[in-house]
Amino acid sequence: MTRLRFGIVGVGMMGREHIRNLKLHPEAEIVALQDPHEPSLRRGERQLGAPVASFADLGAMLAQTPLDAVLIASPNHTHRSVLEPIFAAGVHILCEKPLCTTVADARWAAERAARGDHVFWTGMEYRFMPPVAEFVEQVRGGRVGRLVQLSIREHRFPFLTKVGDWNRFARNTGGTMVEKCCHFFDLMRLIVGSEAVRVFCSGAMDVNHLDERYGGERPDIIDNAFTVVDFANGARAMLDLSMFAEGSEQQEELSAVGDGAKLEVSIPSGDIVFSPRVPLGEPKRPQRSHVDVDAAVLAAGTHHGATYFQLAAFIDAVRGRGPVQVTADDGLKAVAIGAAAEASAREKRVVSLNEVLA
Ligand SMILES: NC(=O)c1ccc[n+]([C@@H]2O[C@H](COP(=O)([O-])OP(=O)(O)OC[C@H]3O[C@@H](n4cnc5c(N)ncnc54)[C@H](O)[C@@H]3O)[C@@H](O)[C@H]2O)c1
Repeated sequence: MTRLRFGIVGVGMMGREHIRNLKLHPEAEIVALQDPHEPSLRRGERQLGAPVASFADLGAMLAQTPLDAVLIASPNHTHRSVLEPIFAAGVHILCEKPLCTTVADARWAAERAARGDHVFWTGMEYRFMPPVAEFVEQVRGGRVGRLVQLSIREHRFPFLTKVGDWNRFARNTGGTMVEKCCHFFDLMRLIVGSEAVRVFCSGAMDVNHLDERYGGERPDIIDNAFTVVDFANGARAMLDLSMFAEGSEQQEELSAVGDGAKLEVSIPSGDIVFSPRVPLGEPKRPQRSHVDVDAAVLAAGTHHGATYFQLAAFIDAVRGRGPVQVTADDGLKAVAIGAAAEASAREKRVVSLNEVLA
């Protein structure tokens, strides 16, 4: 079988993680890299360790290199402008989250993707972490009974330094609730199996970045928040985010409570705990299990194996062997919940999804 020819747009931290993971896949070949920042291109070439065409200019890459697929890992605020010529080139696309920084741009991308006849996939790695995927399957399969409460906690390290410090300002990222929390809002939709109707977010930048200045300007990004999301089917979800909790043993902890049981998963331990309800006074009956991840896949990224498994699923979709699991519309919906949370934190009020999607 011929290998799919990939071009990578944006060869920073995430672009290089995609390079390492595509190298593990027998059906993928990276034939072009594009990045206006010379040092990123050179680091990408070294990471690839094989001959590749490198471009500072996106138009030149698209004109000069036959490609089957383009993987977009440039900063969030560039997604719309790089998508325009890439859509026109008629290739399969995997665009890193968030789809775009605003609902208007994300809607444009979703409408444009729906008109094309190529695969369009929004990068949402958390769905593909094997322990999380197992948790999702069990909850959706009814293991907790009727799902009533979903809680997601991410307690992690502060935002890393990026090329040009783009991630310090909400105008470039969409704001923390869009930039990183779109992952969790996407997971909520997937697990609950319904659409969000209203959001309340209490959050601010209270600890990180306070003393940083870029061109005299202080960053304006949330570093901690509690967000409550009500869903149309009556389920409620909550996100507990702290970005100054790098000492926490577990980075992500998900819990789903239904009318029959509770299910929990932790990352990076990969441990799953199932706790059925028991009559008061009777012994509790928790059942523990563990989901392993292949060592080579774990080592190729910082997302608990997710990058490889998502790329493999993307390739399956391109080959017609599987569905598009994260559509452009999923990307739009995750941006919309994030935008509602940003507005809620700013204005200290409940924000309805109708309002941000209007
Ligand atoms: N799914 C995840 O878990 C995850 C994790 C990290 C980053 N990301 C996403 O990946 C993307 C890149 O983030 P990163 O952490 O690699 O940032 P980064 O700053 O490390 O890398 C971005 C690269 O894009 C380049 N770039 C800037 N403008 C460009 C343009 N117009 N065209 C092409 N390249 C351009 C920069 O020079 C840089 O090399 C972002 O959208 C981010 O949200 C996703």
